[in-house]
Amino acid sequence: MRKPFVAGNWKMNTDSHSSVSLAKTIASACSEIAGRRVHVAVCPPFLYLEAVSRAVSVASIAVGAQDIYYEREGAFTGEISASMLKDIGCIYVLCGHSERRHVIGETDELVNKKVVAALGGGLLPILCVGEQLAERQAGQTDEVVTRQLKSCLAGLSNEKVSAVTIAYEPVWAIGTGLTATPQQAQEVHASIRKLLGEMCNAKLAGEIRILYGGSANPGNAADLMREQDIDGLLVGGASLNADDFVAIIQAATYKN
Ligand code: PGA
Repeated sequence: MRKPFVAGNWKMNTDSHSSVSLAKTIASACSEIAGRRVHVAVCPPFLYLEAVSRAVSVASIAVGAQDIYYEREGAFTGEISASMLKDIGCIYVLCGHSERRHVIGETDELVNKKVVAALGGGLLPILCVGEQLAERQAGQTDEVVTRQLKSCLAGLSNEKVSAVTIAYEPVWAIGTGLTATPQQAQEVHASIRKLLGEMCNAKLAGEIRILYGGSANPGNAADLMREQDIDGLLVGGASLNADDFVAIIQAATYKN
């Protein structure tokens, strides 16, 4: 049984005060269900990770980083390593978010190094994949997602892959208010699970969690979660509003 998982990606938002107050509000509203009926994580900017981690400690809510660098330490100005993240209480790290791929220019090869480094440093990667609008319109969704998964998980043992959460985030649905329909998302989730079965084995494919991301909100969360292969949600914009995020978390408990 895959426990539902809802993660909030705060992106480059909040400040030292609002990050903590948002975290505290979420933690107090979810203390009964977080960790029991649904796994919950929040991913604030690097600067606020430590304070947010303290603020959510009253509930079983994990903290994740939005990015990582693949080297262990040294002369890499501006970068943050797995051990630094682990040191301040991070559990998860987003790898290959579409904004890092398409705004910052990260390649599948770089994302692969980040996933490997995260796992090596004891963090749980949330690997983001997803097609752009032109790719969907050209019927290339499966091809793009397959290429991303194969490249980004390259060289990992089955045991390592089993520690990864996959997030399917169609780029055209991120921050746009356009959501993939539950059927569109389910189709891609099912093919991701099938591919993982071929790459690894059926047991692993049956256990790995695949989240949907892309304008998830309180109005569509329950419908998305009803789909067989949607195990949770990676939420951007709506995770900045405590009431909306908590409503999404509650909708995800449907599966447990
Ligand atoms: P959104 O972002 O919910 O604002 O579309 C999702 C994401 O980027 O993870």
